[in-house]
Amino acid sequence: MKYMGSKNRHAKELLPIILKNRRDGQCYVEPFVGGANMIDKVSGWRIGADKHEYLIALLISLSEGWEPPNDMSEKEYQDIKNNMSNYPKELVGFAGFPCSYGAKWFGGYCRGRANNGEARDYIGEAWRNVVQQSIKLQGIDFRAVCFRELILPEQSIIYCDPPYASATKYRDKFDHDDFWRWCREMVNDGHDLFASEYKAPDDFICIWEKQVNSSLTKDTGAKNNIERLFQHRSQIAT
Ligand SMILES: C[S@@+](CC[C@H](N)C(=O)[O-])C[C@H]1O[C@@H](n2cnc3c(N)ncnc32)[C@H](O)[C@@H]1O
Repeated sequence: MKYMGSKNRHAKELLPIILKNRRDGQCYVEPFVGGANMIDKVSGWRIGADKHEYLIALLISLSEGWEPPNDMSEKEYQDIKNNMSNYPKELVGFAGFPCSYGAKWFGGYCRGRANNGEARDYIGEAWRNVVQQSIKLQGIDFRAVCFRELILPEQSIIYCDPPYASATKYRDKFDHDDFWRWCREMVNDGHDLFASEYKAPDDFICIWEKQVNSSLTKDTGAKNNIERLFQHRSQIAT
């Protein structure tokens, strides 16, 4: 699904690296699952977690076969935004993310024209996107929880795609130092951990990188950055 910071376009390169040494029955975990644009291309035992409860409600419902509406007027969008408790959480999640400008949490109702001058059907596009994705979400164990509280099966593969230090502020402040501390704890506990970021502390080594021309808008402060994948130095075979 459309999601701010989606890794969809990098999945083809990242997943073969992350899954290279996956053992039979080994759980694949994403503590920052977002629009599920990586985990939807992984098979087997999977846990997808995210702190955002409306996002997780949407992912759970889609994985169970729920179909969102294929139309939503601006008035309906605004009413959902202003009266969230009157609506099912999955519908709030649908309006708030894939139906919003830049797929940013209630970043604005999408309207505009396609190249041929006709009004562009943004809601229809969002609908087609999530309906196509939903079959690939079946069987994923989705959890609405902060990464710090996530309980993991032993020796999991963990792929982290946290809010980037240099990018836009998500709803809440994110403690990046604490995140890297937690990564070290996970490595010490025997998990195989990979993390996406632009930069990382010195004990994490860059194992993949790619220049990207980010389409993110100026408020994200992120343009023409180098996407990187890191692993703790203790996990890199010498
Ligand atoms: C860059 S996005 C992930 C995008 C995802 N990889 C994709 O391809 O769609 C980062 C996610 O981290 C989540 N997040 C922020 N703080 C968190 C926390 N403390 N614990 C868990 N998730 C958090 C946000 O809600 C957001 O969905």
